[in-house]
Amino acid sequence: MSKVFIVGGSGRVATELIKDLVADGNQVVAGARHPEKTIELPGVTPVKLDLHGDVAKIASLFAGVDAIYFVAGSRGKDLLQTDAMGAVKTMQAAKRAGIKRYIMLSSMYALQPEKWADYPALAAITDYNIAKFFADNYLVNDTDLDYTIIQPATLTEEEGTSKVTFGEGNDSTNPIPDVAKVLAAVLNAKNTICKVIMMQSGDTAIDDAITKL
Ligand SMILES: NC(=O)c1ccc[n+]([C@@H]2O[C@H](COP(=O)([O-])OP(=O)(O)OC[C@H]3O[C@@H](n4cnc5c(N)ncnc54)[C@H](OP(=O)(O)O)[C@@H]3O)[C@@H](O)[C@H]2O)c1
Repeated sequence: MSKVFIVGGSGRVATELIKDLVADGNQVVAGARHPEKTIELPGVTPVKLDLHGDVAKIASLFAGVDAIYFVAGSRGKDLLQTDAMGAVKTMQAAKRAGIKRYIMLSSMYALQPEKWADYPALAAITDYNIAKFFADNYLVNDTDLDYTIIQPATLTEEEGTSKVTFGEGNDSTNPIPDVAKVLAAVLNAKNTICKVIMMQSGDTAIDDAITKL
């Protein structure tokens, strides 16, 4: 059992992720500007977190946890301070708090700008892609965190399938429950450390797909 901190803990992905993490026996601290919107479940503690705050303040909220999830985002409204620099601050805060495990929810081809023009869904959100490009790059190249980066395609509110394909592909959507299940499943999967995992809808059970990585 682990105690994890979810940055962006009241969002759509976080809500599903919390259900999965709690079902696996973990404790969750969920941080957002409006913590009252966090799903209420035993073992879940909502806390107020603003990514505009300084690294020391964020690190103090991280005290005593084993792993950080970053699933926050500004829906395009505050890309520099939330999606880019906000993410970087949580990485610096993780280091300051002595936490090694860090799991980032990113986006398809965030680290490959040369691909953005090939996919209409990506071409339409270039500023977002750029924010995620800088956040993912910082995590890979400027930290010594035990990171895993999950890069799904467009998120949908469809029912999950619990099945995926990892790697590049042309499919352009992922149900949120499947993205959450992948995020929960990589927590203790040591073979996902220092990996960037692109995910598509597919036909391999999530645990099997992770084992095969
Ligand atoms: N939409 C897609 O198709 C897609 C595709 C691939 C990846 N993603 C990634 O998935 C992420 C999560 O998606 P989602 O649908 O779950 O997002 P969401 O429902 O909008 O949730 C975003 C979370 O971030 C928090 N947040 C926003 N600004 C913050 C700030 N300044 N400080 C602290 N917390 C802040 C929000 O809470 P408060 O507002 O209360 O602070 C909320 O908890 C997106 O941000 C994106 O990076 C999305």
